Amino acid sequence: MATEDVIRDFDTLSAVYDETRQPLDPVTVQNLEEYLHGHGWGSVLEVGVGTGRIARPLVDRGVRVVGVDASRGMLGRAAAKGLPYLVRGNAYHLPFSDASFDVALFVHVLHVLDRPELGLREAARVGRHGALAILDLPPRGERPDRPLEEEPRRIVREILAEAGYPNLLRAGPRAKEQELLRTYPPTELRVLSDREVSEPLAWRLDALEKRAYRHVLRVPPDILARAVAAARAQVGTRTVTYRRTEAVAWWTSVAGTPVPSR
Ligand SMILES: C[S@@+](CC[C@H](N)C(=O)[O-])C[C@H]1O[C@@H](n2cnc3c(N)ncnc32)[C@H](O)[C@@H]1O
Repeated sequence: MATEDVIRDFDTLSAVYDETRQPLDPVTVQNLEEYLHGHGWGSVLEVGVGTGRIARPLVDRGVRVVGVDASRGMLGRAAAKGLPYLVRGNAYHLPFSDASFDVALFVHVLHVLDRPELGLREAARVGRHGALAILDLPPRGERPDRPLEEEPRRIVREILAEAGYPNLLRAGPRAKEQELLRTYPPTELRVLSDREVSEPLAWRLDALEKRAYRHVLRVPPDILARAVAAARAQVGTRTVTYRRTEAVAWWTSVAGTPVPSR
Protein backbone atom coordinates (compact mmCIF):
# COMPACT_ATOMS: atom_id res chain seq x y z
CA MET A 1 0.00 0.00 0.00
CA ALA A 2 1.39 3.40 -0.98
CA THR A 3 2.47 5.70 1.82
CA GLU A 4 -0.21 8.26 0.77
CA ASP A 5 -2.93 5.65 1.39
CA VAL A 6 -1.44 4.77 4.78
CA ILE A 7 -1.35 8.48 5.70
CA ARG A 8 -4.98 8.95 4.69
CA ASP A 9 -5.99 5.90 6.73
CA PHE A 10 -4.16 7.09 9.84
CA ASP A 11 -5.60 10.59 9.45
CA THR A 12 -9.01 8.91 9.69
CA LEU A 13 -8.02 6.54 12.51
CA SER A 14 -6.50 9.32 14.61
CA ALA A 15 -9.95 10.28 15.96
CA VAL A 16 -10.42 6.88 17.65
CA TYR A 17 -6.84 5.64 17.97
CA ASP A 18 -6.15 6.25 21.67
CA GLU A 19 -9.52 5.01 22.89
CA THR A 20 -9.13 1.73 20.99
CA ARG A 21 -5.50 0.83 21.78
CA GLN A 22 -4.17 -0.58 25.03
CA PRO A 23 -1.37 1.41 26.62
CA LEU A 24 2.02 -0.25 26.77
CA ASP A 25 2.58 -2.14 30.01
CA PRO A 26 4.03 0.48 32.44
CA VAL A 27 6.76 -2.06 33.24
CA THR A 28 7.72 -2.02 29.54
CA VAL A 29 8.01 1.76 29.57
CA GLN A 30 10.07 1.74 32.76
CA ASN A 31 12.39 -1.01 31.50
CA LEU A 32 12.72 0.69 28.12
CA GLU A 33 13.77 3.90 29.84
CA GLU A 34 16.30 1.91 31.91
CA TYR A 35 17.54 0.13 28.75
CA LEU A 36 18.14 3.50 27.05
CA HIS A 37 19.71 4.93 30.19
CA GLY A 38 21.90 1.83 30.65
CA HIS A 39 23.38 2.33 27.18
CA GLY A 40 23.82 6.05 27.79
CA TRP A 41 21.35 6.90 25.01
CA GLY A 42 19.64 10.18 25.85
CA SER A 43 18.24 11.26 22.48
CA VAL A 44 15.67 9.16 20.64
CA LEU A 45 13.85 9.58 17.34
CA GLU A 46 10.51 7.78 17.53
CA VAL A 47 9.59 6.88 13.96
CA GLY A 48 5.80 6.65 13.53
CA VAL A 49 5.24 8.47 16.81
CA GLY A 50 1.50 8.49 16.15
CA THR A 51 -0.52 10.08 18.94
CA GLY A 52 2.48 10.07 21.28
CA ARG A 53 1.16 7.08 23.22
CA ILE A 54 4.73 5.99 24.02
CA ALA A 55 6.68 9.22 23.48
CA ARG A 56 4.65 11.00 26.18
CA PRO A 57 5.53 8.60 29.04
CA LEU A 58 9.16 8.45 27.85
CA VAL A 59 9.43 12.26 27.85
CA ASP A 60 7.85 12.27 31.31
CA ARG A 61 10.71 10.02 32.40
CA GLY A 62 13.32 12.47 31.13
CA VAL A 63 14.13 10.95 27.71
CA ARG A 64 14.61 13.50 24.89
CA VAL A 65 12.24 12.26 22.20
CA VAL A 66 11.71 13.73 18.76
CA GLY A 67 8.69 12.19 17.05
CA VAL A 68 8.29 11.85 13.30
CA ASP A 69 5.13 10.68 11.55
CA ALA A 70 3.59 10.93 8.10
CA SER A 71 0.04 11.56 9.32
CA ARG A 72 -1.05 15.10 10.24
CA GLY A 73 -4.04 13.67 12.11
CA MET A 74 -1.88 11.48 14.35
CA LEU A 75 0.67 14.29 14.89
CA GLY A 76 -2.15 16.64 15.89
CA ARG A 77 -3.15 14.25 18.69
CA ALA A 78 0.49 14.01 19.83
CA ALA A 79 0.81 17.82 19.83
CA ALA A 80 -2.33 18.05 21.99
CA LYS A 81 -0.45 16.01 24.61
CA GLY A 82 2.17 18.73 24.82
CA LEU A 83 4.99 16.86 23.07
CA PRO A 84 7.46 19.56 22.07
CA TYR A 85 9.39 18.02 19.16
CA LEU A 86 7.21 16.66 16.39
CA VAL A 87 8.06 16.58 12.69
CA ARG A 88 6.08 15.44 9.69
CA GLY A 89 8.11 13.02 7.60
CA ASN A 90 8.34 9.67 5.88
CA ALA A 91 9.96 6.68 7.58
CA TYR A 92 11.65 5.73 4.29
CA HIS A 93 13.28 9.18 3.89
CA LEU A 94 13.72 10.66 7.33
CA PRO A 95 14.32 14.41 7.29
CA PHE A 96 17.48 14.17 9.42
CA SER A 97 21.16 13.84 8.65
CA ASP A 98 23.20 10.76 9.58
CA ALA A 99 23.66 10.04 13.29
CA SER A 100 21.39 12.85 14.44
CA PHE A 101 20.13 10.80 17.42
CA ASP A 102 21.58 8.22 19.75
CA VAL A 103 19.03 5.71 18.54
CA ALA A 104 15.81 5.46 16.53
CA LEU A 105 12.76 3.67 17.91
CA PHE A 106 9.69 2.01 16.37
CA VAL A 107 6.67 1.03 18.45
CA HIS A 108 4.00 -0.93 16.60
CA VAL A 109 5.01 0.60 13.27
CA LEU A 110 7.15 -1.92 11.39
CA HIS A 111 4.15 -4.16 10.63
CA VAL A 112 2.48 -1.16 8.94
CA LEU A 113 5.36 -0.63 6.50
CA ASP A 114 5.36 -2.55 3.20
CA ARG A 115 9.17 -2.62 3.30
CA PRO A 116 10.04 -2.70 7.01
CA GLU A 117 13.67 -3.55 6.28
CA LEU A 118 14.05 -0.25 4.38
CA GLY A 119 12.46 1.63 7.27
CA LEU A 120 14.83 -0.10 9.68
CA ARG A 121 17.86 0.72 7.56
CA GLU A 122 16.82 4.36 7.26
CA ALA A 123 16.24 4.54 11.03
CA ALA A 124 19.67 3.01 11.62
CA ARG A 125 21.13 5.78 9.43
CA VAL A 126 19.88 8.55 11.71
CA GLY A 127 20.42 6.56 14.92
CA ARG A 128 24.10 6.60 15.88
CA HIS A 129 23.71 3.21 17.54
CA GLY A 130 21.11 1.77 15.19
CA ALA A 131 17.40 1.11 15.52
CA LEU A 132 15.15 -0.34 18.23
CA ALA A 133 11.64 -1.74 18.00
CA ILE A 134 9.20 -2.62 20.76
CA LEU A 135 7.54 -5.88 19.79
CA ASP A 136 4.84 -8.07 21.23
CA LEU A 137 6.32 -11.61 21.40
CA PRO A 138 4.42 -14.89 21.45
CA PRO A 139 5.50 -16.85 24.53
CA ARG A 140 7.85 -19.73 23.72
CA GLY A 141 6.06 -22.58 21.96
CA GLU A 142 2.88 -20.61 21.34
CA ARG A 143 1.57 -19.86 17.85
CA PRO A 144 2.06 -16.18 16.93
CA ASP A 145 -1.57 -15.86 15.87
CA ARG A 146 -2.93 -17.06 19.27
CA PRO A 147 -6.05 -18.81 17.93
CA LEU A 148 -8.42 -18.18 20.86
CA GLU A 149 -7.45 -14.53 21.34
CA GLU A 150 -7.87 -13.98 17.60
CA GLU A 151 -11.25 -15.76 17.43
CA PRO A 152 -13.41 -12.59 17.24
CA ARG A 153 -11.24 -11.29 14.41
CA ARG A 154 -11.47 -14.64 12.59
CA ILE A 155 -15.28 -14.67 12.84
CA VAL A 156 -15.53 -11.11 11.47
CA ARG A 157 -13.04 -11.96 8.71
CA GLU A 158 -15.12 -14.96 7.57
CA ILE A 159 -18.38 -13.00 7.58
CA LEU A 160 -16.80 -10.15 5.62
CA ALA A 161 -15.38 -12.61 3.10
CA GLU A 162 -18.85 -14.06 2.54
CA ALA A 163 -20.19 -10.52 2.09
CA GLY A 164 -17.65 -9.92 -0.70
CA TYR A 165 -14.77 -8.40 1.30
CA PRO A 166 -12.15 -11.18 1.32
CA ASN A 167 -8.62 -11.20 2.69
CA LEU A 168 -9.19 -8.62 5.42
CA LEU A 169 -7.87 -8.94 8.98
CA ARG A 170 -5.58 -11.83 8.02
CA ALA A 171 -2.16 -11.59 9.64
CA GLY A 172 -2.14 -9.52 12.81
CA PRO A 173 0.83 -7.33 13.77
CA ARG A 174 2.42 -10.09 15.82
CA ALA A 175 2.69 -12.54 12.92
CA LYS A 176 4.26 -9.86 10.72
CA GLU A 177 6.72 -8.88 13.42
CA GLN A 178 7.74 -12.53 13.89
CA GLU A 179 8.39 -12.80 10.17
CA LEU A 180 10.58 -9.69 10.34
CA LEU A 181 12.56 -11.12 13.27
CA ARG A 182 13.18 -14.32 11.28
CA THR A 183 14.24 -12.50 8.13
CA TYR A 184 16.29 -9.76 9.76
CA PRO A 185 17.50 -11.15 13.09
CA PRO A 186 18.23 -8.33 15.53
CA THR A 187 21.58 -7.96 17.22
CA GLU A 188 19.82 -8.30 20.56
CA LEU A 189 16.31 -9.14 21.73
CA ARG A 190 15.47 -8.40 25.34
CA VAL A 191 12.18 -9.04 27.13
CA LEU A 192 10.95 -5.89 28.91
CA SER A 193 7.77 -7.26 30.50
CA ASP A 194 5.96 -10.55 30.71
CA ARG A 195 2.64 -11.01 32.45
CA GLU A 196 -0.63 -12.89 32.31
CA VAL A 197 -3.61 -10.94 31.01
CA SER A 198 -7.29 -11.91 31.16
CA GLU A 199 -9.90 -10.07 29.15
CA PRO A 200 -13.36 -10.60 27.65
CA LEU A 201 -13.09 -11.80 24.06
CA ALA A 202 -15.75 -9.26 23.09
CA TRP A 203 -13.30 -6.43 23.87
CA ARG A 204 -11.56 -7.29 20.65
CA LEU A 205 -14.72 -6.32 18.81
CA ASP A 206 -15.08 -2.85 20.31
CA ALA A 207 -12.27 -1.42 18.18
CA LEU A 208 -13.65 -3.08 15.05
CA GLU A 209 -17.06 -1.59 15.80
CA LYS A 210 -15.44 1.85 15.94
CA ARG A 211 -13.76 1.15 12.58
CA ALA A 212 -10.39 1.63 14.28
CA TYR A 213 -8.34 -0.58 11.93
CA ARG A 214 -7.09 0.27 8.47
CA HIS A 215 -8.27 -3.08 7.09
CA VAL A 216 -11.93 -2.30 7.62
CA LEU A 217 -12.04 1.36 6.58
CA ARG A 218 -13.26 0.42 3.12
CA VAL A 219 -16.01 -1.92 4.33
CA PRO A 220 -19.47 -0.27 4.27
CA PRO A 221 -20.53 0.56 7.86
CA ASP A 222 -23.72 -1.56 7.78
CA ILE A 223 -21.84 -4.67 6.60
CA LEU A 224 -19.16 -4.25 9.27
CA ALA A 225 -21.77 -3.62 11.98
CA ARG A 226 -23.60 -6.85 11.02
CA ALA A 227 -20.35 -8.85 11.09
CA VAL A 228 -19.40 -7.46 14.52
CA ALA A 229 -22.89 -8.16 15.92
CA ALA A 230 -22.71 -11.77 14.68
CA ALA A 231 -19.24 -12.19 16.20
CA ARG A 232 -20.47 -10.74 19.51
CA ALA A 233 -23.26 -13.30 19.62
CA GLN A 234 -20.75 -16.11 19.02
CA VAL A 235 -18.11 -15.12 21.58
CA GLY A 236 -20.70 -14.14 24.21
CA THR A 237 -19.19 -13.47 27.62
CA ARG A 238 -16.19 -15.79 27.26
CA THR A 239 -12.85 -14.48 28.45
CA VAL A 240 -9.35 -15.27 27.24
CA THR A 241 -6.16 -15.51 29.30
CA TYR A 242 -2.78 -15.16 27.64
CA ARG A 243 0.76 -14.04 28.35
CA ARG A 244 1.63 -10.59 27.15
CA THR A 245 5.34 -10.37 26.48
CA GLU A 246 6.83 -7.09 25.28
CA ALA A 247 10.43 -6.98 24.13
CA VAL A 248 12.91 -4.57 22.62
CA ALA A 249 14.80 -5.62 19.50
CA TRP A 250 18.03 -3.79 18.66
CA TRP A 251 19.48 -3.80 15.19
CA THR A 252 22.97 -2.41 14.79
CA SER A 253 22.87 -3.48 11.15
CA VAL A 254 20.12 -4.45 8.75
CA ALA A 255 20.28 -6.98 5.91
CA GLY A 256 24.02 -7.31 6.11
CA THR A 257 24.54 -3.57 5.78
CA PRO A 258 26.45 -2.52 8.87
CA VAL A 259 25.61 0.77 10.46
CA PRO A 260 28.78 2.81 9.90
CA SER A 261 30.61 3.43 13.14
CA ARG A 262 30.50 7.09 13.89
C1 LIG B 1 -0.02 1.70 14.47
S1 LIG B 1 0.47 3.39 14.53
C2 LIG B 1 1.60 3.39 15.91
C3 LIG B 1 1.75 4.73 16.55
C4 LIG B 1 2.58 4.74 17.84
N1 LIG B 1 3.95 4.37 17.63
C5 LIG B 1 1.93 3.84 18.85
O1 LIG B 1 2.44 2.74 19.13
O2 LIG B 1 0.89 4.23 19.36
C6 LIG B 1 1.54 3.53 13.13
C7 LIG B 1 2.02 4.95 12.88
O3 LIG B 1 2.99 4.91 11.83
C8 LIG B 1 2.75 6.02 10.97
N2 LIG B 1 3.30 5.66 9.65
C9 LIG B 1 2.91 4.68 8.81
N3 LIG B 1 3.66 4.66 7.70
C10 LIG B 1 4.56 5.67 7.83
C11 LIG B 1 5.61 6.17 7.01
N4 LIG B 1 5.92 5.62 5.84
N5 LIG B 1 6.31 7.22 7.47
C12 LIG B 1 6.03 7.81 8.67
N6 LIG B 1 5.04 7.38 9.48
C13 LIG B 1 4.32 6.32 9.07
C14 LIG B 1 1.25 6.17 10.96
O4 LIG B 1 0.85 7.47 10.54
C15 LIG B 1 0.92 5.88 12.42
O5 LIG B 1 0.93 7.04 13.20
